[in-house]
Amino acid sequence: MPSIKSSVRAWTTTAARVAVVIVMAVQLLGASWVKEPVQPRIDEQFDKQEKIYRRRGAGSYTANRGLSSYAEVLPTGFCDALGRLGSSDRWLDIGAGEGQAILDYYAPRADAASAAKCGGSGHKARTVAISIEDRRTDRWQQQAAIFGDDRMQYLSGKHLRHYSREELGKFQIITDVYGGFTYTEDLSRFVENALSLLEIGGAFYTVLPAVQLEDGTDKLGTWYRTELVDAASRPVKVCSWLKQTACTKVSCETMKDADEPTQLIKIAKVCSDVSVPRTNLVEYAAGSPPNRRFQLDP
Ligand SMILES: C[S@@+](CC[C@H](N)C(=O)[O-])C[C@H]1O[C@@H](n2cnc3c(N)ncnc32)[C@H](O)[C@@H]1O
Repeated sequence: MPSIKSSVRAWTTTAARVAVVIVMAVQLLGASWVKEPVQPRIDEQFDKQEKIYRRRGAGSYTANRGLSSYAEVLPTGFCDALGRLGSSDRWLDIGAGEGQAILDYYAPRADAASAAKCGGSGHKARTVAISIEDRRTDRWQQQAAIFGDDRMQYLSGKHLRHYSREELGKFQIITDVYGGFTYTEDLSRFVENALSLLEIGGAFYTVLPAVQLEDGTDKLGTWYRTELVDAASRPVKVCSWLKQTACTKVSCETMKDADEPTQLIKIAKVCSDVSVPRTNLVEYAAGSPPNRRFQLDP
């Protein structure tokens, strides 16, 4: 027969084990997936956003940044990479607006000295501009008539996700300046689509305003337009998320002297099996740009 002492010891050990299991279960539950509810009537916001794309005049957004602006807001190395392209290489600008950056690349304006410095003065790559709405100007039409559709193509009428890979082909450089990356309601799919259009060794250059910065220099209490949270609803930096993408090398810089925390991002494609960790949209408020909240899959 076990003594009272050994029974008490056995009971205490069992109780301690149960307690440990309970504590672990509670901790696990705390960190498990709290799937955030999707905002009701989110479709109304998408409809509103489509109207914003098509708005013209005073209520519209900036859609005519030239190549010198691209050089300022894109990560270091963009201009050099553009300058190294050969005449059979290809540059895709997603969310090109009026396509002013491409116009400057082909025919720098007299007043745009820095545009001439970006992209070099040698051979010009073939370019494709994508915009949801057609914002081609007279200048675009004139230049496209001179250089030909093969070198200056402009595609509009749909979002990036609606093009097949065959339709667009592959590119050495892809840019996005306050375009699809800032506006999309499906962040991971957008990045995956863009990267699927890149040749291995090519790079995607982009910029994201009002977002939590990788280097943590954003001020406490900053209001973000693009928010990313993990499965337990804890904030995640966009760069940390992107750095989990297979077959890429991601580098992030902080825009200097910006009004809002702005991240400059370069994603180089290093092999073909690109896989971007999935994001789910939970909130979207139309605007230029819109406010978005995404939650990562567990
Ligand atoms: C604010 S304008 C920027 C234009 C130009 N990049 C500039 O800086 O002047 C936004 C552009 O992104 C385009 N856009 C937004 N989401 C897009 C998407 N998912 N696919 C293609 N274009 C998109 C719009 O149609 C528009 O041309």
